[in-house]
Amino acid sequence: MLKKISTFLDKVSVLIKGGGDEKIAKRRQNGVLTARERIYELLDQNSFHEIDLFVEHSGKDFGLDKQQLAGDGVVTGFGKIDGRQVAVYAQDFTVQGGSLGKMHAAKITKTMDMASEMGMPIIGINDSGGARIQEGVDSLAGYGEIFLRNTLNSGKIPQISVILGPCAGGAVYSPAITDFVFMVDKLSKMFVTGPKVIESVLSEKVSSEELGGAKVHNTKTGNAHFYSQSELDTFTQVRTLLSYLPSAWDAEIPKAKPAPPKSRFKLADTIPDDSRKSYDIIDVIKTIVDGSEFFEVQAMFAKNVVIGFARLDGEAIGIIANQPKVKAGCLDVDSSDKAARFVRFCDAFCIPILTLVDLPGYLPGADQEHAGIIRHGAKMIYAYAEATVPKVSLILRKAFGGGYIAMSSKHLKTDFVYALPSAEIAVMGPESACNIIFAKEIRDAENPEALRQQKINEYREKFSNPYNPASKGYIDAIIHPDETRQKLIQSFEIARKKKPVFKKHKHGCIPL
Ligand code: HXC
Repeated sequence: MLKKISTFLDKVSVLIKGGGDEKIAKRRQNGVLTARERIYELLDQNSFHEIDLFVEHSGKDFGLDKQQLAGDGVVTGFGKIDGRQVAVYAQDFTVQGGSLGKMHAAKITKTMDMASEMGMPIIGINDSGGARIQEGVDSLAGYGEIFLRNTLNSGKIPQISVILGPCAGGAVYSPAITDFVFMVDKLSKMFVTGPKVIESVLSEKVSSEELGGAKVHNTKTGNAHFYSQSELDTFTQVRTLLSYLPSAWDAEIPKAKPAPPKSRFKLADTIPDDSRKSYDIIDVIKTIVDGSEFFEVQAMFAKNVVIGFARLDGEAIGIIANQPKVKAGCLDVDSSDKAARFVRFCDAFCIPILTLVDLPGYLPGADQEHAGIIRHGAKMIYAYAEATVPKVSLILRKAFGGGYIAMSSKHLKTDFVYALPSAEIAVMGPESACNIIFAKEIRDAENPEALRQQKINEYREKFSNPYNPASKGYIDAIIHPDETRQKLIQSFEIARKKKPVFKKHKHGCIPL
């Protein structure tokens, strides 16, 4: 027995070194953690429970049969975050560039299946050159198996992707199907085709940072949801995110100790009287939520809409809000996608949704029309309309046109719709409206500007207030800003009682 134990320990000590001392030393020189260290840093101390360390690769061609690939380049298992169970895998770039072959994929899919059956989040730490070229179709098949599970698990368990290296090819599509993608400045890269392949196929030189660095995906493409300066900061972000999520769609969401907002402002102080003046919606959010803590998602992308998690009276909520200081909070192609996806995530995981409304509508212009604002804007309406989770909205100032309908209006089955006395609800803003409906009268007037101003004032008086929609029951109550937090807490408490009717057909066809 002792001899066998010693052989076992020798084997383990080789396997846990992945690609070996030299490659590990190179990573250390570059200040990058190993796959195993990443798992240890992410999880609660001493909670990692590894499986499949002894799995061997099955590649036979191009000299692979003569190579040992420790653990086939991926570390898999389970562990705890803040005492809650999670599944995790980390690709090991020191082993054949973290490339994915048949058995590497099988280790990941086994972990995914177990996470799904046991109802816990899965966190993938991705650092991979994509499909292992030497294994041919076996590696493509491996990706297919992962994508299938990403899809089947979507909306069932939270799926989180942390990108910590140059991820290429298939290595980007699995993260793209998951719920949240985390990237680290300068370290993380995502591209379908890597720079070396681009150079050989297109004879074009492109830096991997410009092609798909953390900034590109956080600001331009919208692929990434979180940006940080270091691996350790990313792990803190992952842990914070999980604190707002249930372990599975039908599990309880952890409740925190209720805390009053810490903001030194009152809600009424944060919104200027002049409706043409902008303000920061995050200041508003901070006057409402517990401890004034707002965990923003996709903070660098489509900033005209703000999304993120917070707590009200200890209960997690998702917030979607127009940001008046960017493009006046208008909905455009990217912000519609951003918000619609977040609404669907919250709905799938039974996280109640608070919507804060202040927008002059969908962004006008040929650029937006040609970029598909009709198709993308439709996703917003669809997402809110199908969401059965408790929904509460508050109209702060403007709610014009399609924006009024799309941003969680009563007509889309929002449980409680409130408006502040400053709310203005109309088909469009007074200036544009009067230029259209009184065009002839203004043109023919002795003093067109005076008449225009008079008509604008009349229109504002008639439509740009919350009393007209409240008189029709489209708004449940006009509230004093000071009672906002309390009203919202009560509203969610009531709305949690509803029993949504689930669809009997397969699924709707969201206009993707
Ligand atoms: C096999 C690979 C590999 C791969 C890297 N390696 N990618 N081995 N299959 N896909 C190996 C290298 O041979 C090298 O082995 C080690 O990993 C480290 O790679 P380097 O190139 O030395 O590292 P670096 O300079 O940091 O560049 C990393 C990289 C680059 C940017 C990822 O390797 C690259 O561009 N690889 C190809 C990426 C790509 O285009 N993949 C697409 C695959 S197709 P040694 O032995 O020297 O250490 C695909 C299709 C799926 O994924 C589609 C699904 C939809």
